[in-house]
Amino acid sequence: MNNDIEQVLYNQAQINHRMDEIASQLTAKYQDQCPLIVSVMTGAVVFTVEMIKRLKFKLNLDYVDVSSYADGTHAGKVKLVQDLSSSIEGRPVIIMEDIIDTGHTLKYLANLLKGRGAKSIEICALLDKPNRREVNVEADYVGFKVPNEFIVGYGLDYSGLYRNLPYIGILERSVYEN
Ligand code: IMP
Ligand code: MG
Repeated sequence: MNNDIEQVLYNQAQINHRMDEIASQLTAKYQDQCPLIVSVMTGAVVFTVEMIKRLKFKLNLDYVDVSSYADGTHAGKVKLVQDLSSSIEGRPVIIMEDIIDTGHTLKYLANLLKGRGAKSIEICALLDKPNRREVNVEADYVGFKVPNEFIVGYGLDYSGLYRNLPYIGILERSVYEN
């Protein structure tokens, strides 16, 4: 499996260090606010689990599943596949996502949750591919910026595989170009 990885971008120690930094920022900001953490399935599952262990405040955890599809006229249309089970009215919300690419997914989600009366919404993303953005959305906390390559590991998949790699890497092109 490691042969499918062209280059390791961030290893577990580097990811741990960065998560510690972001968790300190969140811990300073969210004392006594009891936010709802919304994890975007399935890619954000590893990041979410590792992050919440580092957050030193009361919180609730919930998740959504979204899928994006192009229907010919609307590139990057996003659909909610699994909704939250909690009400978010009046609550601070922190969305945890694996990667922001075109931005369509997070734009859709943030608007949806805003419309339901969240008190505040912040976005915490493990990775960001800023050069690929098609709509204007920025994360409030970003682990690492990554190049325009196909990234796997630490929750990110190609065709359902590689989510369990304990590092973030660039997928070898031959894996998806044949
Ligand atoms: P966006 O709506 O284009 O921002 O896409 C976000 C979603 O696309 C992420 O939640 C990922 O599931 C997926 N995605 C985008 N880039 C990559 C990548 O390089 N590797 C794996 N998944 C990706
Ligand atoms: Mg995703």
